[in-house]
Amino acid sequence: QRFPVVVIGAGPAGLTLGNILRAASVDCVVLEAQSREFIERRPRAGVLEEWAVRGLERRGLAGNLLARAQRHTECEFRFGGQRRRLPYAELTGLHHFVYPQPWLVTDLVREYADVRGGDIRFGVRDVRLHDLGTDRPSVSYRCPESGERRVIRCDFVAGCDGARGVTRAAPPAHRTRTARHDYGVGWLALLAEAPPSSDCVVFGVHPAGFAGHMARSPEVTRYYLQCPPGDDPANWPHERVWAELRQRLAAADAPPPAEGRLIEKRVLDMHNLVVAPMAYGRLFLAGDAAHLTAPIAAKGMNLALHDAFLLGDALTGYLTRGDEGGLAGYSAACLRRVWDYQEFSQWLAEVFHGPASGDPFRAGTALARLHRLFDSPGAAGAFAEQYLGGSPLGSG
Ligand code: APR
Repeated sequence: QRFPVVVIGAGPAGLTLGNILRAASVDCVVLEAQSREFIERRPRAGVLEEWAVRGLERRGLAGNLLARAQRHTECEFRFGGQRRRLPYAELTGLHHFVYPQPWLVTDLVREYADVRGGDIRFGVRDVRLHDLGTDRPSVSYRCPESGERRVIRCDFVAGCDGARGVTRAAPPAHRTRTARHDYGVGWLALLAEAPPSSDCVVFGVHPAGFAGHMARSPEVTRYYLQCPPGDDPANWPHERVWAELRQRLAAADAPPPAEGRLIEKRVLDMHNLVVAPMAYGRLFLAGDAAHLTAPIAAKGMNLALHDAFLLGDALTGYLTRGDEGGLAGYSAACLRRVWDYQEFSQWLAEVFHGPASGDPFRAGTALARLHRLFDSPGAAGAFAEQYLGGSPLGSG
């Protein structure tokens, strides 16, 4: 079998890319390790920036999203018993769209497979990449039903298989460089069967550790609690979780968070990672396969879409018009936004973690960053611009 493009991974990056290619009549196949039911339910991110939504809309991929997503206009910081709102939409004219990743993935699979007639193979095993340094690469996998190994020849491979995929490690070690930053803290990531307790994202900056509240849907709310790295979720029974959330999110006039059954409880070892360049020979990486941002500022899904827009346009340009410019500039164009977002995440992480670091100097400077946001309109404007990822014009 032969396809111009093999896409590995059916997350937001791989499916958006597949849809762009299909719309340009470029043939491709998407290989996904899990089942369709699994990827349509897997709880993940949920915040999209306005430029990303407009990019999906321009490509005919935002119908359900625009009808169903909540639009957020501000976020709230709680510290020292106060609550302060930062009205980012007023400051930038841009919104956050809250739309759970499984809903987006469901829309994108339906559009790709059922509407645009794209080939997608679920449950593939043991994906391997071959001859990436030549102009005749191929991808092989074991078929879930027969167990037999199938080979697909292609012109390009898109590595969209997320943080634990196989494509990141495919280039020879001396051809890529991995930059990694560890925060030295854990976050207990929780999904609660409870309605949101605020109409916006809430950041609790507290000497006992950070706590976060993020609406996902009317029935489910995402919470985070800072904890030691490598902590065992078993150390966090229901009572302890809700007691810590009440303490760290406490503020004058703020109702305590609405309690509910915890349907997900995982400890994230908070780190960021960037692979550069995001290309080797005929392999192009996109999304979490190339870079991770700890969920500090809800950037991961947005970066995955940015990569997918650029790679989709670059591959289409090459395969339909012989234009090599997009592919040649792909890695640098992606990494520019990736590094910008990494820097913002690191800045905000210090606001969140400084007060509980045990270091009075870090605690003092973290609170100074926070106060500046509410004392200086210029600082608030700059924060809002970075939090929203900038203008929808010219961003893919
Ligand atoms: N072969 C085929 N598919 C694979 C393999 C493999 N070896 N390994 C992983 N996959 C699949 C996963 O099952 C998943 O469906 O690749 C897909 C990768 O999707 P995501 O992890 O969602 O990555 P991406 O599309 O880059 O989107 C990034 O995901 O983790 C969140 O916060 C992050 O929102 C961001 C988004």
